[in-house]
Amino acid sequence: MGYDRLALFEALKNKEDITLLALESSCDETAAAIVKNGRQVLSGCIASQIELHRKYGGVVPEIASREHVRAINALIDEALAQANIGLEGIDGIAVTCGPGLVGALLVAVSTAKALAFALNKPLVAVNHIEGHICANFIQYPELTPPFVCLIASGGHSHIVCVEDYCKYRILGATRDDAAGEVLDKIARVLALPYPGGPALEKLAIKGNETALARPGHFLSGEHYDFSFSGLKTHMINQIMKSKKSGEVPPEDAAASFQYWVMSALVSKTVQAAKDMGVHKIALCGGVAANKRLRQELFSRADGREVYIPDAALCTDNAAMIGSAGYYRLLAGETADMQLNAIPSQEL
Ligand code: KG4
Ligand code: ZN
Repeated sequence: MGYDRLALFEALKNKEDITLLALESSCDETAAAIVKNGRQVLSGCIASQIELHRKYGGVVPEIASREHVRAINALIDEALAQANIGLEGIDGIAVTCGPGLVGALLVAVSTAKALAFALNKPLVAVNHIEGHICANFIQYPELTPPFVCLIASGGHSHIVCVEDYCKYRILGATRDDAAGEVLDKIARVLALPYPGGPALEKLAIKGNETALARPGHFLSGEHYDFSFSGLKTHMINQIMKSKKSGEVPPEDAAASFQYWVMSALVSKTVQAAKDMGVHKIALCGGVAANKRLRQELFSRADGREVYIPDAALCTDNAAMIGSAGYYRLLAGETADMQLNAIPSQEL
C-alpha cells in the first residue's frame, strides 16, 4: 500500500491535540523540535555549525550539507528523548522545504520524507520565512492575527501583514541586500568574526551612533521596500578612507551603521502598521535578536502592541517550523513523497 496523504490527514482531522516533530536545515543550523498544538514546545535541539564556517567568513554550502547529514539523526533522538516521547507518539512531521541552500534543505526534507513514509504519518512542508513569523505564536500564546510583522534575517527583509493563519500580504521587501546580510558585510569590512550581526552589536555598544552622517536619500518614497546597498557603499567608503586617516573609530562605524539599518527597519514597519490600521507589530528573524532594534521599535511603536520573541526563537530553530507546520496541517495542507527542496521559495 502506498503513502496516502489524504487518508492520513482525514485520520488526524478531529484529533484534539496534535504533536509534530519539526526539522530545519536550511542554512548553517541543524534543528529538531517537538511542538504541541503549534504553540507549546516540548523540546528543541540545535546543532550550530558557526565555528566550522567562521574561518571562511561565511557559510560554505558543501560543508553545511555534510554537517547536517552528520547531525540530524542524533538531534531527532535527542528531541524525542527530551520531550519524553517516542516516534509513535508524534502525529506528523513538519519540515522546512525552502528558501535556503539546496543541499542543506535536502537533508531535512529527505529525512522527513523517510520518517513520514516509514511511520505512515502526515508530512507538512513549511516555508522558512513563515516559520520565522510563527516564532511569535510560540513566545506569545495569546497572539492572534492580524498583525504586521517585520522579518529580518540573513537572507530576507520583509514587511508582511499577517491577515490570518497561513495568510500573508507582503507589503514591502528589500530591493538588494537583506538586513542581516548587510550587517554581516560591514562587520567583515571591520574585520569582525562571522556571523557579523552579533559581533557588530557588541562593538556598537562602545560607539557613538550619531558619529557619522547618514546619507539622506535611502529612506525616501511612500513604499515599504528597503534598500541597503547605498548605505553599505557609503559606510565602506567611510571605513576605507578612515583606514588612512584614522578619523572614524570602528566602534563609531559599527554603532552608526547599526543605527541606520535598525531605524530604517523600524520606521517602515511602524508606517506600514499605521497605514494598515493594525495595532500589533511583531518582529522575527535573526536580526530581531538585536537589542538596538528591539529598543527602537518599543520607543517608536506609538502605543501599538509590540511582540518580539526571545533571541533563541529569532535565530534559526525548529520549534518555529513546528508552529507553522501545525497551522498548515490544520488548513489541510500536507505534502507527499514528491516533496523537494525549493531554494528560492517565496513566502
Ligand atoms: O534568521 P537567521 O538565523 O538565519 C537566516 O534565515 O538567515 O538570521 C541570521 C542573520 C545573520 O545575518 C546574523 O548576523 C543576524 O541574523 N543576527 C544579528 C544578531 N543575531 C543574528 N544581527 C544583529 N544583531 C544580532 N544580535
Ligand atoms: Zn532564518
